[in-house]
Parts: sequence; structure tokens; C-alpha cells
Amino acid sequence: MDIGGSGIKGCPVDLETGELIGERLRIDTPQPSTPEAVFDVVRRVVGEFDWTGPIGVTFPGVMKHGVAYTAANVDKGWIGTDVDAGLEAVIPGAVHTLNDADAAGLAEMRYGAGRGRDGVVLMLTFGTGIGSALFVNGTLVTNTEFGHIQVDGEDGERRASAAAKDRHELSYPEWAERVDRYLDVLEGSLWPDLIIVGGGVSKKAHKWVPLLSTRTPIVAAELLNNAGIAGAALAAHENLAA
Ligand code: BGC
Repeated sequence: MDIGGSGIKGCPVDLETGELIGERLRIDTPQPSTPEAVFDVVRRVVGEFDWTGPIGVTFPGVMKHGVAYTAANVDKGWIGTDVDAGLEAVIPGAVHTLNDADAAGLAEMRYGAGRGRDGVVLMLTFGTGIGSALFVNGTLVTNTEFGHIQVDGEDGERRASAAAKDRHELSYPEWAERVDRYLDVLEGSLWPDLIIVGGGVSKKAHKWVPLLSTRTPIVAAELLNNAGIAGAALAAHENLAA
């Protein structure tokens, strides 16, 4: 399951390939996006698939041991909520919740653009916010929040997310300039070996990735829309089996 600010999506996943089994179901995120309202949508999606096995869930904020610690782009009522316990109360299977970008990164590392890559790999998702997932020799460093680094006195994602592109009606070249500046600041303190860019705008990667002047090699994500769901399933499988 992938909980986002605008949609809640779910599907069973083939963990061998990372592909979805059948058609993904998407329901608009209720507004206000309170935990109770979202739990009910997750319950409906899981019910549609008659699923009783383990469930991986992404959340767009810091997640530690099932509990949400931040909620930059969803209802603030999430902060302090035990998401695993809240969901387990309404659906049959065991639940493992993790940060959305961490999930997308896990999927890219296993099935996509990061396959077999060692060193320091940084996955960034450009959407309503900017999500980040950092890998050191294939191991995820959870809950990096690089969307919120300060860039020229402003929150990085306020300037350079895909939502900022829409909000300010920026062309791809105009927006790429902002992304470039954001990456420049990030690169200066992290020096990764590879950057993978994901999120909806990665479908149009050819329009902006070639305009970036990073010193780090940069590639588009391969799993596009389904990375979050696939990574959540992978994380649930690994954590709940353990
Ligand atoms: C949140 C992150 C999240 C990202 C993408 C940011 O605003 O702080 O936790 O991964 O948005 O949804």
C-alpha cells in the first residue's frame, strides 16, 4: 500500500520481479487526510483484494517502529500515531509501515536503476515534497529527510519539488535550474556515487535530467509509479518474516 497526499494505492506484488500482480487500485486520499479516514481507505483497498497476508505500507513522513514522527504534507494528526497498530486493528494481516521514499529506494535498489550498485546511492523522489533514501553499499540508512535541507534560506522541497513546479507554473528548464541548485547544496555535503531521481516527473526525465550539472552521475528511476508499492511489499516481507 502506498499512502500519498493525493492518492492511496495498493496491489499484491511479485517479490521475485517487483512487478504488480494484477491491476493496482487507487482511491483519492480523503480530505482532511486524518489517520482514521486513511485507515478506512486502506481497509477498503485490502478488502478488494481479499488479502490476509502481510502488508507493507508507505507513509510520507518519518516512520520509526510503526509510529509516524512527522507529517509535512498530510494531516498533522498523524504525528505520534502508531500506524502499524491502527491498521492492524482494521485489517486482517500484519503491517509494516515505512517512509515512502525509503520504500521507493528499496525497490529501485532491488529491481530498478540501483541494481547491483555499491557505494553511496541517493534516491530522490520529486512529488508534493522531495523524499530521500540513502544507501551505503546496498544498506538503507532510514528516514533521511533531505527534502528539508536549507537551500538559499528556504526549505529545499518548497523550491524544487514537482509541486513547486506546478505552483509557480515553471517550464522544465526553469524548474531544472531550481533542482540543480538544490542538488548542488546536497551534493556538497554528501558526495554520493549515484543519484536516482523518481516520482511522477521521472516519466519526463528526458526533459530535465540532461539539463542538470551535477558532478554525480544521475539516472531516472525505472519503476516509476509502482516503486513505493513494490518497496513496501519487500520491506514487509523482510521485516515481518524476521
Ligand atoms: C517528507 C518526507 C517524505 C517526502 C516525500 C517530505 O515532505 O518530510 O518524509 O518522504 O515528503 O513524500
